[in-house]
Amino acid sequence: MSDSSANKDKAGNGESGNGMTIHLKIWRQARSAAQGRFVDYTVSGIQQEMSLLEMLDILNEDLVRKGEEAVEFDSDCREGICGTCGMVVSGVAHGKHAGTTTCEIRMRQYKDGDTITIEPFRAGPFPIIKDLVVDREAFDRIQRKGGFVSTNVGSAPDGNAILVSKLAADDAMDSATCIGCGACVAACPNASASLFVSAKISQLAWLPQGGPERGRRALSMIAQMDTEGFGDCSNHGECEAVCPKQISIQNIARMRREYVKAAWTGADKARNTGGD
Ligand code: SF4
Ligand code: FES
Repeated sequence: MSDSSANKDKAGNGESGNGMTIHLKIWRQARSAAQGRFVDYTVSGIQQEMSLLEMLDILNEDLVRKGEEAVEFDSDCREGICGTCGMVVSGVAHGKHAGTTTCEIRMRQYKDGDTITIEPFRAGPFPIIKDLVVDREAFDRIQRKGGFVSTNVGSAPDGNAILVSKLAADDAMDSATCIGCGACVAACPNASASLFVSAKISQLAWLPQGGPERGRRALSMIAQMDTEGFGDCSNHGECEAVCPKQISIQNIARMRREYVKAAWTGADKARNTGGD
């Protein structure tokens, strides 16, 4: 076997030793109010070990070398933690693989000559800033309405001072894994933020520490969600399907229970020591 054939097709994806050639259709939009459009690009030398974002880095280096404007996109941790890298990849928020963020997409899932379409998250409350970057401050404003515990508890308490059942701790932790990426909004036909808001409400409702502000938290975060212009939950389940942290839509049912309890009994009475 010659050297070149040994290098060829390591992953059965047609990649030669020089890497794959990938065609891209990328949404370019100069600013929020400007008309956007898809622009075609071709990048070469893409190795299967690279991430999708590394491929965009290579594209941007090519563009800058040619004196053209780089494609703007958000990223930070590049390991599925921070939630900044939201994009719609070939029609699916964060791409087709369940439980992964855009930055976790590896090029080994593509073949030489494939075409990938990349566009921003699209939702009224997430206006496009430029190209693939959207403004997700609406999430921050919702979070500021009550997604925290305001009690000053001093330094870290003893781990056993307030007992939390294993079930409640596990459920709180499952809800707390939401990274605020916004894919749930982008995937929902009604641009609902219900999965995000319900995860933030649930993570504290499960714990005794979240009890004192429980009712007020549900009412004010949901009111802010409405103010920001997010739609109501339409029960499509697309949010859960694209969520990179696989947050369950059971959180939405819990959010509704929290809201009804607080609305009927008064925000300050709807408190307890955590759990359902
Ligand atoms: S619920 Fe999932 S999709 Fe929505 S913001 Fe949180 S991590 Fe992202
Ligand atoms: S860059 Fe942080 S989750 Fe993707």
